[in-house]
Amino acid sequence: MSAVEASAAGGGRPHLAIEHLSKVYETGTGPVEALHDISTTVGNGAFVSIIGPSGCGKSTLLKIILGVIGHEGGRAYLRDTPIDGPQVGAGMVFQQPALPPWRKVLANILLPVDVLGLPRRDYRERALHLLDLVGLRGFEDKYPRELSGGMQQRVSICRALIHDPDLLLMDEPFGALDAMTREIMQAEILRIWRDSGKTILFVTHSIDEAVLLSDRVIVMSPRPGRILRDIAIDLPRPRGGELRQTARFQAYAGQLRELLGLIDHNAQPPEPEDHG
Ligand SMILES: Nc1ncnc2c1ncn2[C@@H]1O[C@H](COP(=O)(O)OP(=O)(O)OP(=O)(O)O)[C@@H](O)[C@H]1O
Ligand SMILES: [Mg+2]
Repeated sequence: MSAVEASAAGGGRPHLAIEHLSKVYETGTGPVEALHDISTTVGNGAFVSIIGPSGCGKSTLLKIILGVIGHEGGRAYLRDTPIDGPQVGAGMVFQQPALPPWRKVLANILLPVDVLGLPRRDYRERALHLLDLVGLRGFEDKYPRELSGGMQQRVSICRALIHDPDLLLMDEPFGALDAMTREIMQAEILRIWRDSGKTILFVTHSIDEAVLLSDRVIVMSPRPGRILRDIAIDLPRPRGGELRQTARFQAYAGQLRELLGLIDHNAQPPEPEDHG
């Protein structure tokens, strides 16, 4: 049974379905297998995190789902429709804020509106509201170079939300934030998620963050990027920082720490056996 069929058999259609996906980058020094036989589904309105060591293909997977890079083997669907180009129903927060330096903050947030050919005037108020939400109201006429790294990342979160996509792809969105802002943004993203019913696929290096936010945590391993484990986080919601102190939270965090510790970061592909 395919992932799409399996999910259909279990009730609702998944928002995202990935079947036997693989991705190879051609590089000057030969091909790099970034993803190997990835299969998973993400249900409507779910919050799913991906965690795994550097280079295991997390960003690659998100870019394939956004439709900005292709893949070799397998299939990927958003609501049963094959992903074959940029997806207007998805918004992405990239690992680097990537704000065009010649666009002021407001124009940067409106970038997807321009790209999608939507009328700017309809989105101006929303952009200002989003700036409010991330604590940057008043910065709309600044250039990116006038903001700190963490502030730029908050602008890129507004940009991902501006056209109200129902799938939010977030690639380590809080990695550059100081601890306090990070906790505020974690609470904020949970609030946005709860109020909007969006589906969120969230990449993080933080075990705590993954457990705190997610319905499921997908653990990946590198060379080539594969899914090692998929863990359901069965903790009550709404969740706040105080949950971190509980035994059940600590148990999930410990399980993930152990799994990630098992991954050999320096693993080389196996040598061909010498039968001579
Ligand atoms: N444009 C590219 N050209 C060639 N190889 C690439 C390219 N992008 C990524 N790779 C390679 O693909 C693999 C996966 O990269 P990717 O950026 O998806 O990893 P990641 O899990 O997001 O890592 P990190 O946690 O460091 O962000 C790595 O081996 C990387 O070197
Ligand atoms: Mg990455």
